[in-house]
Amino acid sequence: MQLYLDTANIDEIREVSEWGILSGVTTNPSLLAREGRDVKDVIEEIAELVAGPISVEAISTRAEDMVAEGRELVKLGDNVAVKIPMIPEGLKAVARLSAEGIACNVTLVFSSGQALLAARAGAAFVSPFVGRLDDIGADGIGLVRDVVEVFAYHDIETSVIAASLRHPRHVMESALAGSDIATVPYGVLESMVAHPLTDSGLERFLSDWESLQRAVKPEI
Ligand code: G3P
Repeated sequence: MQLYLDTANIDEIREVSEWGILSGVTTNPSLLAREGRDVKDVIEEIAELVAGPISVEAISTRAEDMVAEGRELVKLGDNVAVKIPMIPEGLKAVARLSAEGIACNVTLVFSSGQALLAARAGAAFVSPFVGRLDDIGADGIGLVRDVVEVFAYHDIETSVIAASLRHPRHVMESALAGSDIATVPYGVLESMVAHPLTDSGLERFLSDWESLQRAVKPEI
């Protein structure tokens, strides 16, 4: 499973790109609004930091406007994918943009039916929102599992991006469900790296090493 970072924050992207794990970035209007900066500048900066796909959402809700937006967004970087909401006008936009060779990431997907429609319209990616389904007591990971199964059974090449992930268990359950990609908030990645036994184990190693140095070189 590939890991994308779900953020528009340049510092978070720069940090995680140095970990060597980053295959892409997803943004959305809320994440971009949080940065309070010119969207064009932010996306161009991200495109310089990350070689993999960068999802940027069209804000229009009419097909012809989404298509026009998508054509402009991909000018910001060769690796820009256009995020399109899972609505009927969005399907029209995906059909037209994908026919022009523009990669689309269909977002706000909450059912396997929506994922199938998006894939058939030509989406390169579909983004089932795990956390928001869990928030209402539904089974977000179950949706990922169903979408992966349907796509595999019918040889659908559209990639599944598990999104709206709230904690490391969501990431690993998405991996176990067969998701192609997990797009992960920075704080969740930080939680994935950390473990108290790692910290206490390292502290003990360093302490024992210091004791050895003092024993063999008493002058230290
Ligand atoms: O990429 C979609 C993701 O940002 C949505 O996450 O936490 O707003 O449900 P969330």
